[in-house]
Amino acid sequence: MVVAEALIRWILAAMPPHLACFNPSCGQRYPLSEIVYSCGACGSLLEVANSFADVDPETLRATWRMRRSSLEKVDVSGVWRYREMLPFASDPDCIVTLPEGNTPLFDAPGAASYAGLESLQFKHQGYNPTASFKDNGMTAGVTQAKILGMRRVACVSTGNTSASMAAYAAAAGMQAVIFLPAGNIAYGKLAQALEYGALTIQVEANFDQILALVRELAAEIGIYLLNSVNPFRIEGQKSIAIEMLEQRGWSVPDWIVLPGGNLGNISALGKALRELREARLIEDMPRVAVVQAEGSAPFFRHFVEGGNLRPVSAPETLATAIRIGDPVSWHKAAFEVGSADGIVESVSEQQIADAKAVIGRCGIGCEPASAATLAGIRKLVRAGTIRESADVAGILTGHLLKDPDYVYHYHSGQLETPSGYHVQPQFGNPPVTVPNDRTRIAELLDRAAVGPFP
Ligand code: F0G
Repeated sequence: MVVAEALIRWILAAMPPHLACFNPSCGQRYPLSEIVYSCGACGSLLEVANSFADVDPETLRATWRMRRSSLEKVDVSGVWRYREMLPFASDPDCIVTLPEGNTPLFDAPGAASYAGLESLQFKHQGYNPTASFKDNGMTAGVTQAKILGMRRVACVSTGNTSASMAAYAAAAGMQAVIFLPAGNIAYGKLAQALEYGALTIQVEANFDQILALVRELAAEIGIYLLNSVNPFRIEGQKSIAIEMLEQRGWSVPDWIVLPGGNLGNISALGKALRELREARLIEDMPRVAVVQAEGSAPFFRHFVEGGNLRPVSAPETLATAIRIGDPVSWHKAAFEVGSADGIVESVSEQQIADAKAVIGRCGIGCEPASAATLAGIRKLVRAGTIRESADVAGILTGHLLKDPDYVYHYHSGQLETPSGYHVQPQFGNPPVTVPNDRTRIAELLDRAAVGPFP
């Protein structure tokens, strides 16, 4: 099934770049200049289709390496440096960049030993200009908005998409309209949207309900929608995999692991890997693992049970970025997981919280949703799915400072879910308050153990 689908996709792609319906039995095509997010014929999402069969991989590698020493804004960007893989923005003057990408690939021995692995790398997308992986996609989405002459862009968000879109819209001189689930986004992200000048609308509904509403409204009120239903955003997010593989000298890991919410990121990762293989930049596909939070895990359930995805009507998790019950890109994600012999896992609130603290103790840090990556890796190693000696690269999607309340509550033993589960911090590090007394402070320092990594 996956092989047949892949073949049809390959045939459709062998034409000038265009938008293609993701449903292979539909095959509807649209010009890149059309403002359309889902197929008019069958309702499926769209993707930018292009052929990479004729590229010379050695020339591409050398070109991308050379651009690292260039001062041109399109070369400095860790997205547009790979512009041959993003076949839609031919005029460099249209490109809206802050610049993004260029994120580090860390070796994390402490996290490796926590997970039961010999070694582990983290590609940290929290090192982007607005501190999440969304910037890789947003530079592409807002660039397309500029090409189309749009003045107003909009998104529904659990926080990071809105922070990112607000920044790129401000840089491009466009109005940003963002819709947020009231009371359910981390303060760091809300603060960003306000500061970047977005019209910020908090709706008393959850992410899925608001997205359904705004998708209907988009055409009526003349806004360009920049959720991950937008195929150009997915094009930008492909650069996460491209840059990671380049940083690894094009050596393909055994596994790439990432958190899943609305499932745009796994869709982009899978598309990038397929296209890199078509371009002969890599020979083998890594396996992929998508990790969801137990209380918001419809894709995990679909993976285990098969059939159509059944949405979770009241998704819950303290990792608010992935508090999504009806992931809009699940068809794409299911195809990409199948193409990469991948799996889907789910992890508990306790597992996410402790894994997050371990990533912090490596000197790396991340936001809660990102820590699902390490929690998932640990679970999969314990189950024997990932070998102890496997070469594993995890994606950390957002920065530690996005959600400072979560951090404080964890370390001070106050982290609790709305349904009353109290997280027991295995690596808690509460602040210590002392009187202004030299002796007491000296005693405290004497007593404090300087221990090795847990
Ligand atoms: N990690 C972080 C930090 C996120 O912000 C998100 C999604 C995900 C993981 C999941 O990625 O949706 O592509 O599967 N955040 C979106 C937002 C939904 O609105 O910021 P996904």
